[in-house]
Amino acid sequence: MAGGQQHWEDVYGARSEDALTWFEATPAVSLDLVRDHLQPGEPFIDIGAGASRLVDVLIEEGFGPITVLDVSGAALAVSRQRLGPRGESVTWIEADITTWEPDRTYAVWHDRAVFHFLTDADDRAGYARALFDALRPGGIGIIATFADDGPEMCSGLPVVRYAPEALAQELDRLLPGRFEMLEATRHVHITPKGNRQSFQYSVFRKTHR
Ligand SMILES: C[S@@+](CC[C@H](N)C(=O)[O-])C[C@H]1O[C@@H](n2cnc3c(N)ncnc32)[C@H](O)[C@@H]1O
Repeated sequence: MAGGQQHWEDVYGARSEDALTWFEATPAVSLDLVRDHLQPGEPFIDIGAGASRLVDVLIEEGFGPITVLDVSGAALAVSRQRLGPRGESVTWIEADITTWEPDRTYAVWHDRAVFHFLTDADDRAGYARALFDALRPGGIGIIATFADDGPEMCSGLPVVRYAPEALAQELDRLLPGRFEMLEATRHVHITPKGNRQSFQYSVFRKTHR
C-alpha cells in the first residue's frame, strides 16, 4: 500500500481535520449521490473515510446502519471523538482496503480520494475484490478520485488520475462485466488554503450476475 499505514497515522496526528487539503465542512457532492442511492435502514460503508463529516450528516438524516473504514486509527478517533454518543451506532473498522475481507454486504459503498492512491496494480485488484465482495447484487459503488486534470500528488503521495471513462474501464478490466456505470460528475474542490482540485465522482451498480 502506497505510503503505508504510518504515513496516515502521522498525517492525522500532525494536523487538525479542517487543515487537511481534502477537508470539506459539508461533503455536498457525496451527500447528494448517497441520498440518491441509499434508503434509511440499508447498510452503508464509507471507505477511507478519514475524519470526513459525511457520517455525521448521514446519522443526522436517519440513515444507517453505517460503517466507517480507514487504515488510520488516528483518523477514526477524530470522528469518534467529534460524534461522541451520536457515533455509538456506527461500526468503526481500522483496515487496509486492499486486503480487507468484508464479513457482510452493503447497499452503498462510498470512497472519496482513496482509490486514486492505488498506484500498484495488485493493490487495485485487492480493492476491486473487496468492492465486489462487500456490495450486495444491485449495490452501488460511488468512487471519487482526482480527475484527469486534477493534481498529480495528494498528501505527498503520487496518485493515478482518472477521467470517468478511464475509471469505468479500469473497473471493468479488474472485474469484467461485474459493474455498470450509472452516472459521473465532475467537481472542483477548494482546499482550506484556497487551491483548486479537480475531482470526478462515478457511480457504479453491481450487476446481478
Ligand atoms: C485524501 S484522504 C480522504 C478522506 C475522506 N475520504 C474524505 O473525503 O475526507 C484519504 C484517506 O484514505 C485513507 N487510506 C489511504 N489508503 C488506504 C487504504 N489502503 N485502506 C484504507 N484507507 C486508506 C487515509 O487514511 C485517508 O483517511
